[in-house]
Amino acid sequence: MEKFTTPILKGKQAAPGQPGKTRVIFGQETEEDAILNLSLRPLNTKDFIGQKAVIDNLLISMQASKKRKEPLEHVLFSGPPGLGKTTLAHIIANEMGTKITATSGPAIERAGDLIGILTNLGKGDILFIDEIHRLSKVVEEFLYPAMENFQIDFVIDKGPYAKTIKFNLKHFTLIGATTRAGLLASPLRGRFGLFYHLDFYEPDDLVKILKRSSDILKIKLDHNSLVEIARRSRGTPRIANRLLRRVRDWAEIKTGGLISKEIVDKALVSQGIDKNGLDNLDRKVLRAIADVFKGGPVGLEAIAATLNEEKDTIADIVEPYLLKTGFLKRTPRGRQITNLACEALALAGAKEAQRQLF
Ligand SMILES: Nc1ncnc2c1ncn2[C@@H]1O[C@H](COP(=O)(O)OP(=O)(O)OP(=O)(O)O)[C@@H](O)[C@H]1O
Ligand SMILES: [Mg+2]
Repeated sequence: MEKFTTPILKGKQAAPGQPGKTRVIFGQETEEDAILNLSLRPLNTKDFIGQKAVIDNLLISMQASKKRKEPLEHVLFSGPPGLGKTTLAHIIANEMGTKITATSGPAIERAGDLIGILTNLGKGDILFIDEIHRLSKVVEEFLYPAMENFQIDFVIDKGPYAKTIKFNLKHFTLIGATTRAGLLASPLRGRFGLFYHLDFYEPDDLVKILKRSSDILKIKLDHNSLVEIARRSRGTPRIANRLLRRVRDWAEIKTGGLISKEIVDKALVSQGIDKNGLDNLDRKVLRAIADVFKGGPVGLEAIAATLNEEKDTIADIVEPYLLKTGFLKRTPRGRQITNLACEALALAGAKEAQRQLF
């Protein structure tokens, strides 16, 4: 069996203006994550913690297709960054015993870039397209017949001599991952047979993930410390693993490696992460809504412009967690701050926001 090859992930980088390495909590993968991922990333469904409904359904689909000796249907994973979409794509390849070729939406600039990749896929091979919502229209339309009929049309020559040639592909499986299923054109979405949404992890599952990671990284810490890190990881395994490493660094320098719940708290506060797991940018967003926009409702564009941040950063990373924790709510007219957030952050605009809400 061949493991995953050709990681053509050149397009997988932070969008311009994204918070980069200064923000511990941001969801994107850093270089450090990428290296550690190799050791921390679960390789099979048995080691994959949480997301039970997704895993149960996936196992049934994989077993059924193996039984029929047919390739798996195309799979789409959606959900906020760092919840395990890429991990699951590799687990599927591993458990189906197939080859995986990984690329990403922004890396495929022209339809021509896909021809070589598609024609090289064997039966049952997996093509993983990360950030699939960022494919260009032309490339997306080129994919439709490939996904549906395993055929591609390409045009050779130009003008009056132009000819369309049909090329038959092997029966491959496309796995797409997206942080924004809503941005996917419906013809593309409709061509996926299996569609799984990953939601934030429960604290108990994060504790298990952290326990596994700390065993692998040989970091000694007690259950209470794990619970405290889990509580502040925004329901996201990638962030949990990153906070674990920051706590370890802090403890190595300040306490000779000793970690307790109090030390976790001090280490994380030193990184700007508060008791609710919010970091500076989250707090800035909430403060801007409370103070500048009188509690809302306000559009994402206006918040992003006020803070001089990318709209995508706020939409992908900040907003989903604030919605999940009930600090922010979405209304047809925009985002509105909640009483919970006002109390948690003792916001100056709290009274105004409350008046708007009720
Ligand atoms: N269920 C899990 N159990 C254990 N570890 C996990 C789990 N899910 C994710 N992880 C850890 O979190 C890291 C991030 O996961 P992954 O790269 O798959 O996220 P992603 O959803 O693809 O994120 P992005 O949208 O940024 O591409 C993995 O390397 C792995 O270490
Ligand atoms: Mg990924």
